[in-house]
Parts: sequence; C-alpha cells; structure tokens
Amino acid sequence: MTSLMIEQFTCRQDNFGVLLHDPLTGETASIDAPDAARINGRLGQDGWKLTHLFVTHHHPDHVEGIPALAQASSLTIIGPAAEAAKIAGLTQTVGDGDTFKFAGRTVQVISTPGHTAGHVCFYIPDEGLLFAGDTLFALGCGRLFEGSPEDMFRSLSRLAELPDETRVYCGHEYTQSNARFAVSVDPDNEALAKRMQDINDLRSKGLPTLPTTIGFEKRTNPFMRTGDPAIRKQLGMETASDVEVFAELRRRKDSF
Ligand SMILES: [Fe+2]
Repeated sequence: MTSLMIEQFTCRQDNFGVLLHDPLTGETASIDAPDAARINGRLGQDGWKLTHLFVTHHHPDHVEGIPALAQASSLTIIGPAAEAAKIAGLTQTVGDGDTFKFAGRTVQVISTPGHTAGHVCFYIPDEGLLFAGDTLFALGCGRLFEGSPEDMFRSLSRLAELPDETRVYCGHEYTQSNARFAVSVDPDNEALAKRMQDINDLRSKGLPTLPTTIGFEKRTNPFMRTGDPAIRKQLGMETASDVEVFAELRRRKDSF
C-alpha cells in the first residue's frame, strides 16, 4: 500500500484547504470545505476527482464550500453528529470513537469539544495523520467559542496521547502570531526559540508552517505544556491545576 498523497493550500485569508488522495483507488477527500472554487481548482490541477469530504465543525469558513462541491459530484460527506443541524449536506454523521474507511484505511473520529461543542478531529493511524481542524494549531489552539477551558484541555490531552511522529494538519495558518504569544509565556524554551526563527523564515518566503507533529507541539506549544514548571513560574501559577493554567493561557492569548 503506497502512502496517501496530500495537498495543502491556502484558502480565503488564512484557512488551509487539504486534499488527501489515494493513487491506487483514486479516492480523494477534502478536509473541510473552506472554498469550493479553490478546492476545485486544485483538484483539476492534479487530475483528482473528489469522493469524500471530512467536516470538522460547523463554522462557515469550514463548510461554505459544501453545497457547490456536492453539486458537482456525488460525495460521501462525513461530519459531527452533534453539529448535523448546523451543517447542510452531511451524508454520514459520526461521533467519538467511530471509525470509517477511506481508501482502505481506517479513519478514527476523535471528539474534541472546546472551539465548538461538537468539533471532531480525524485520525488515520496507518498513515500517522491527524486532521485537527480548529482544535489544535501549530503553537496554539482554537478559541473557546462553545466550550469550557476544561473541555478544550481534555480535547488537547487526548490529541497529546497520539504518537509523537503523527503529522498534524490544521485549519488555519496562525503560527506566527501564536509563536509570539508562546515565546511571551515560555521565553527560555530553546526548541521554541529555534522554531520561532524557522517560522519567521518560512513566512517571509510566503511558505506554510504546517503540517506540524504531535511531538513538536508537545515540546513547544504552551497549550500542551500546562505542567511545565517554567511556564507555570512565568504565570505565577506554580501550584495551580493544569486546567487553571490552560484557562489562564487561553485568557491571555485572547487579548494578546
Ligand atoms: Fe472554527
């Protein structure tokens, strides 16, 4: 079995479009549908035909392209059962722990409430791939629009349990501003300082900073490092719980 091919491209302002393609079966999935025209353009360029859509959550910048894409061909459109009422066109609804097949691979659904109440991530263990939507970003995490800090902390903790080498694709290119915040709360982290340089370098060339990996995030993303003594000291929260530290980080980032 050859590996799945992946195309990542920017959509709208700072969204990512991601296409997943199996050369053997021809099956092709789009992760979310930020912009039908951009996705169709990319499909045409590669000569791929869209067969699946994996939808992470109901926000317009992730679902607006669904009707146009669904009109063009018959698609399997898989999204969170908990948000089915807010996402038009789903043909299959899924929840935590559900699995389905894509191009012969098992896709695992991980429920990650916090950004939205029903947000799901899609994990393909055979490929070491995670599609994290707006739950986990490089050096950051999604804003808490519909969930509590505890919800999001639990969601990120679940993602942290995946193998370190798991490649993570995210919904947005927010890395540079996330990095500025990360350095402000974790100033002595050498891996983070080095990453900041790499990020600035990539962005100055107009290149994406994604995908990342779970291991990389665990070493440098403050929202996954709530137990770190240096971060806790920086916040003056040495004895607080992990959820309290997470909530304080999220609160500060919201107004950073
Ligand atoms: Fe979102």
